[in-house]
Amino acid sequence: NPIQAPDLSKCSPPEIPEGGTRSNCCPPYNSNIIDFVPPRHGPLRVRPAAHLVDDEYLKKYEKAIQLMRALPEDDPRNFMQQSTIHCSHCDGALPQFDEPTADPLQVHHSWIFFPWHRLYLYFHERILGKLIGDDSFAIPFWNWDTPDGMVMPAFYTNKSSALYNKNRNPEHLPPATIDLDGKQHPGISKYELIEDNLITMYRQMISNGKTARLFMGEPYRAGDAASPGAGALENVPHDTVHDWIGNPANKNSEDMGALYSSARDPIFYGHHANVDRLWSVWTTLGGKRRNFKDNDWLDASFLFYDENAQLVKVKVRDCIDSKNLGYKYQDVENLWLKKRP
Ligand code: C2O
Repeated sequence: NPIQAPDLSKCSPPEIPEGGTRSNCCPPYNSNIIDFVPPRHGPLRVRPAAHLVDDEYLKKYEKAIQLMRALPEDDPRNFMQQSTIHCSHCDGALPQFDEPTADPLQVHHSWIFFPWHRLYLYFHERILGKLIGDDSFAIPFWNWDTPDGMVMPAFYTNKSSALYNKNRNPEHLPPATIDLDGKQHPGISKYELIEDNLITMYRQMISNGKTARLFMGEPYRAGDAASPGAGALENVPHDTVHDWIGNPANKNSEDMGALYSSARDPIFYGHHANVDRLWSVWTTLGGKRRNFKDNDWLDASFLFYDENAQLVKVKVRDCIDSKNLGYKYQDVENLWLKKRP
């Protein structure tokens, strides 16, 4: 059977790793839940590549995040509340629905990784759009798989911006080139690192991603133990990018390097938008690279607060096509397609 949307009234304090900053990451409780209805929308919202956005866009995005930070602390749309949604779904805070003896809900390391994070970003984006009164607003994606995107987008590092976060590895601020496979390559030149990153992308998207299980992760059904196995892209570069940004001087490489704290960094959403884009790209790559057809995947359900602070129950089947959610990505060239090792 599919994983069921959790009962928020059963949330308990998370298990924060040692040395982590205390946080209660339970979402505000509310029993009024509606079923998700795909939004009616005009033209698709287009999520832009972070390294290509203009000032006008950037002002809007900063404004939206600033307004999100300024919402009352107990408003589920508040920026910290947004980040705690992530924490409650990965650190043992929410039991599986009606499965009191099973491991708590975990949205990583299984086939729900991609759809859960897609929906999480979707509601985040809709809230931002509502806050600035712009229905067409779309969050940016950090295009770390293309040479020009292989540095932390500069706008996240402006100290006076709402997009800034101080808990990042100071060695990895611009102009440092990202290392997608996380292997550390002593003495490697910038040019070689970029080549290596493109090869890593080819390997994870194509060679290691030949089937849904290999690319997206292992089946995870009601009552199952948590974390049956991550897919190729979740391990590398999803995890490796997290680790690259988090500050190693903090006990658990907070913020981005630890599950409970990662979504406190605005760059989380740009990172995940690229992961989400790559899921869409993967479904077009041919062979057996197709989404699961299993109803236990398609009918898995989750809960999110929408832009009106209304709790909504959504299923995986509602999100397998991002167009159903009203957005797509700016067309960019996927240069790694040509980098067969
Ligand atoms: Cu929920 Cu990038 O992890």
